[in-house]
Amino acid sequence: MKLFLDTANVAQVSEIASWGMLDGVTTNPSLVAKEGKDGSTSSPQVFKKTVLEMCKLVPCVSAQVTAVDSEGMIKQGKEYAAWHKHVVVKVPMTTEGLKAVSFFSKKGIKTNVTLVFSSAQAILAAKAGATIISPFIGRLDDQGEDGMGLIAEILEVWENYQFKTEVLVASTRHPRHVVDAARLGAHICTLPYDVFKKLPNHALTDNGLKKFLADWESVKK
Ligand code: E4P
Repeated sequence: MKLFLDTANVAQVSEIASWGMLDGVTTNPSLVAKEGKDGSTSSPQVFKKTVLEMCKLVPCVSAQVTAVDSEGMIKQGKEYAAWHKHVVVKVPMTTEGLKAVSFFSKKGIKTNVTLVFSSAQAILAAKAGATIISPFIGRLDDQGEDGMGLIAEILEVWENYQFKTEVLVASTRHPRHVVDAARLGAHICTLPYDVFKKLPNHALTDNGLKKFLADWESVKK
């Protein structure tokens, strides 16, 4: 399973990429806005710079269009895709979005269909030619639904057909989500920085290492 970082912060991407196993980054307009409350990060020049810096660090960077009509999405998406070969154009799961995805698919431009909340939406996006779909599990859990259940259902459907579309588990909230996504065979899981930072930790690892080093020191001449 590929692991992505869900952020618009280049320093965070650089830090996690330095561990040697980061496969990609997902950004969205809210994450971009969070990095610059004065609006600086969502200016076209700064957004492009951010995406390009991330493209130097990882092989797959999702950049979301903000147009809501297919023509506007296609215009923005073509521009993003021309920035760097690592860019994946992120498109919302709407009928306008599906039209844009179908266009991009024919042009060989990679897409990530975001805001997927049902298997029916997942099937439509795959049929339109999406490279990736992003079901948001945390937001479903937040309203009392079963987010990971949706991933299981989508992967069950995928077993029946030859969809090449990768299933990216999005809106994750804690490390257990990564394990559950992997057990189900999801292709990608994206994690916020604070969740990613928790993954390598275990109290027994810390205590074990402390004891090893203390024992080593105790017999040193
Ligand atoms: C994925 O691509 C999205 O950016 C993200 O996972 C949304 O997560 P949230 O529900 O925590 O905002």
